[in-house]
Amino acid sequence: MATKILMVCLGNICRSPLAEGILRSKLSEDFIVDSAGTGGWHAGELPDKRSTATAKNRGLDITNQRARQFKQSDFEIFDSIFVMDNSNYKDIMTLAPNEEAKLKVKLILNEIFPNENVDVPDPYYGGQDGFENVFDMLDQACEEIARKLKQ
Ligand code: 4NP
Repeated sequence: MATKILMVCLGNICRSPLAEGILRSKLSEDFIVDSAGTGGWHAGELPDKRSTATAKNRGLDITNQRARQFKQSDFEIFDSIFVMDNSNYKDIMTLAPNEEAKLKVKLILNEIFPNENVDVPDPYYGGQDGFENVFDMLDQACEEIARKLKQ
């Protein structure tokens, strides 16, 4: 069965759509990559225009994505759930039905800064440069995730 990876942030319009697009670009179609938000305010929306522009600058098209809210059945479907910040981590862990589900949840930047529990900063209220910075962090983290998945 295909390995399934879920990227999670708050709104599923800024950070996790970038993480989804970046990781998918590094893996074959044998892997399933999706994203979701802990909140549902933006459900059905396209990624934020600043995320779409940042991705496009780096050669990625993420306009096929639509925001959705994380749901408890995601714990059964996905093998790994990468959250963008400590607030997302707390929210998702609260929903985890058992120990097996909790073990699937990881802070994405711990892939490149092990055990440091660093947040991917929320770029929503900032400018375009915040999105470029987020892209660079996620690109490095996804490179490491892809490397491990291909081993
Ligand atoms: P994201 O960014 O969690 O990276 O998608 C945000 C998007 C929307 C809001 C907050 C953060 N909001 O408050 O609507």
